[in-house]
Amino acid sequence: REMPQICPSILSADFARLAEEAEAVRGADWLHVDVMDNHFVPNLTLGLPIVESLTKATDIPLDCHLMIENPDRWAPQYAEAGAGSVTFHVEAAAAPVRLARDLRALGARASMALRPATPIEPYEDLLPELDMLLIMTVEPGFGGQAFLDIMLPKIRRTRQLIDKHGLELWLQVDGGVSASTIERCAEAGADVFVAGSAVYGADDPAAAVAALRAQAQE
Ligand code: DX5
Ligand code: ZN
Repeated sequence: REMPQICPSILSADFARLAEEAEAVRGADWLHVDVMDNHFVPNLTLGLPIVESLTKATDIPLDCHLMIENPDRWAPQYAEAGAGSVTFHVEAAAAPVRLARDLRALGARASMALRPATPIEPYEDLLPELDMLLIMTVEPGFGGQAFLDIMLPKIRRTRQLIDKHGLELWLQVDGGVSASTIERCAEAGADVFVAGSAVYGADDPAAAVAALRAQAQE
């Protein structure tokens, strides 16, 4: 895979026209799907039936970001539904190592997310079990929030850990990523970028994806 990768978040798309909204971001590496259960975060979005339908409606692989309680039970079902990558939150997982192994066994990329106040250091030994680590750069729950630049040191420290262990895992950032923040994220070591409002709020979403990619490459 060529880095950097751009993942438009359909949270900022029109939910009544998801197939067309996927088509509107042609050239994107992944379609980022925010699953929220109104327990782990104070918002409710979509679940398995829509993910299943979406896998059939687009060729872009799905990057499912599960902001839900009990991912140990639910996350494997997203892999079975055809998601190419499944991200669970470590704060909600009872057994993150077992869950990551379950996801890989089902053929999905296994990814773990950290809320802004969750440090990376306790999870250094888990990194080889993962295909991607997601550092949230807003409090999860809503699109369109301001980027938390106090997360940049965590991105930098995580990049150092990945390199120190010689790991292949991707480092994703999500929240407030836009033309004005993506360069700082890339410079700190992120290589996979989620963008919701910056893509779907643009007049030409596909052009916004290309522009973000170019900026992250600089
Ligand atoms: C927020 C979600 C994000 C959201 C990002 O909890 O995880 O994926 O869609 O939206 P923007 O890019 O607008 O901050
Ligand atoms: Zn997300």
